[in-house]
Amino acid sequence: MEIKTDVLIIGSGIAGLYSAIKISQFANVTLVTKKEKAESNTNYAQGGIAGVLDPADTFEKHIADTMIAGAGLCNKKHVEILVKEGPARIHELIEIGTEFTQKNGKLDLVREGGHSFPRIVHSSDLTGKEVERALIEKANSIKNINIIENALAMELITEHYVKNLKDKPIASRHCWGAYALNILNNQVMKIVSKVTILATGGLGQIYLHTTNPQIATGDGVAMAYRAGAKVSNMEFIQFHPTSFYNPNNSTLKQSFLISEAVRGFGGILRTTDGVAFMKKYDKREELAPRDIVARAIDFEMKKRGDDFVYLDITNKSKAELIEHFPNIYEHCLTFGIDISKDLIPVVPAAHYSCGGVLVDESARTSLNYLYAVGEVAMTGVHGANRLASNSLLEALVFSHKASENIKEFFKESESENIPPIPAWDDTGMLTADEKVLISHGTKELKQLMLDYVGIVRSNLRLTFAQRRIHNLFIEVEDFYKKTKVFDSVIELRNLITCSHLIVKSALLRKESRGLHYNIDYLEQDMSKEPTDTVLQNTYQKT
Ligand code: FAD
Ligand code: SIN
Repeated sequence: MEIKTDVLIIGSGIAGLYSAIKISQFANVTLVTKKEKAESNTNYAQGGIAGVLDPADTFEKHIADTMIAGAGLCNKKHVEILVKEGPARIHELIEIGTEFTQKNGKLDLVREGGHSFPRIVHSSDLTGKEVERALIEKANSIKNINIIENALAMELITEHYVKNLKDKPIASRHCWGAYALNILNNQVMKIVSKVTILATGGLGQIYLHTTNPQIATGDGVAMAYRAGAKVSNMEFIQFHPTSFYNPNNSTLKQSFLISEAVRGFGGILRTTDGVAFMKKYDKREELAPRDIVARAIDFEMKKRGDDFVYLDITNKSKAELIEHFPNIYEHCLTFGIDISKDLIPVVPAAHYSCGGVLVDESARTSLNYLYAVGEVAMTGVHGANRLASNSLLEALVFSHKASENIKEFFKESESENIPPIPAWDDTGMLTADEKVLISHGTKELKQLMLDYVGIVRSNLRLTFAQRRIHNLFIEVEDFYKKTKVFDSVIELRNLITCSHLIVKSALLRKESRGLHYNIDYLEQDMSKEPTDTVLQNTYQKT
């Protein structure tokens, strides 16, 4: 099957859908998404979206909070764009139909860790679900947006796939769409486009414990890296301090999040003997940025040999908790925990990738005609640690920047200039009958990344991880080259590529900064200006 389109968007979270809605005003859009439309990290977002919406708040304060959380590595120009353009994008979301919680006729603005002012708009504790609902409804109503579900993009189409152009230097390559697997019939589609946008989200599924749903397998970063795009700051993986501790967690694919907003509402962290401990670590206590809180919890758990700590919100009434956190209240109750009376057992879990495909202020990657928006992109706004509720904001602001840039591109470019693209070739490939190799490899990788490349790292652990990831890479590439493609082998390949990039970047950073904490270099390197880690593939593996 072959599809031709002006713009191909890969992903149907906030970044993909918002981009599609904007771009549909001047071009045709084909949006592919690997499961049902709503299945995305966006759909599970709880806390909300940060924005300067109260007259008593200021851009300067939001910029300063973002930069402090980012531990000296934020791109200041891009942070200014994020903060100053944010309120207009939030108002657009409202115009599209998103219903945010109101109090006394105004948006209810709450506070989260690292914010010096209550500035988070939210829809109760189900913000992402409401945003996703509104965006899907809007996108469904637009004629020139064609959404294809169950279509897993597997490789970007560049010169590599075109006869006579294979040897073009990787740094000057173009992207003309993608090959995507129809998961329902296992056929590979060729989708040719003038512009391609990666909006594939995060990679939390690399780790055994993650707040991310199953779709978060780092496909965008891995495809872009294989195609030769630059990726950056992959060492900065954010662990959310408080995911619900479930003793049977190892059988789960996704941990349930206890929103940061619960700490913003007065929640206190306690060790299993009931002692509050955050005062020892930071004067902001429970409202310190996430890297500090997650490390403090990790330290207390390891010191005491405990599997979890408690989050205590019993200082609030049942009525208040049900009003503010109905989803969290209900979830805990299914485990027999009434959060107005009982403490909530929590552990840190992999949550967000601050690194990704390197982009400029218009979300352009280093490959021609390829853009990246949302969590898959590295805009530089998060630096070494993302401030709570700045992710949905980043997706909105930089998707808008991308659409503005693409509009200009369409005005200026006269002809398509796309060479003939071949269909996906799997002649001679066998049908896989040893899928256990893939499920085993996935489990092994997740455990390895948790144990060796987690909240606290060391050179020795990273080097061990590097060696094992390399072995897994060889085994899975061998399997991939011999068999017809299917979803889990594509995803495992991507998980391996991203793990390799995380470990390589972590080994290159000879300091501790933000989310990257290495016991062999306990301090920030103050001897030079902090720099981003940038990696680029110089050959293409398929
Ligand atoms: P996603 O929403 O993850 O969407 C990615 C899309 O790409 C999905 O549709 C997926 O199916 C598709 N896809 C992926 N790979 C492929 C492929 N190969 N082919 C086709 N389709 C593909 N941030 C905040 O700012 N505030 C919050 O309150 C907040 N709470 C959060 C709570 C949880 C539990 C989680 C997990 C994250 C939270 N975050 C929050 C982070 C934020 O939700 C994400 O960073 C953001 O939603 C990412 O949006 P996105 O559009 O980039 O990606
Ligand atoms: C949360 O609700 O704690 C998640 C907020 C975020 O990831 O920004």
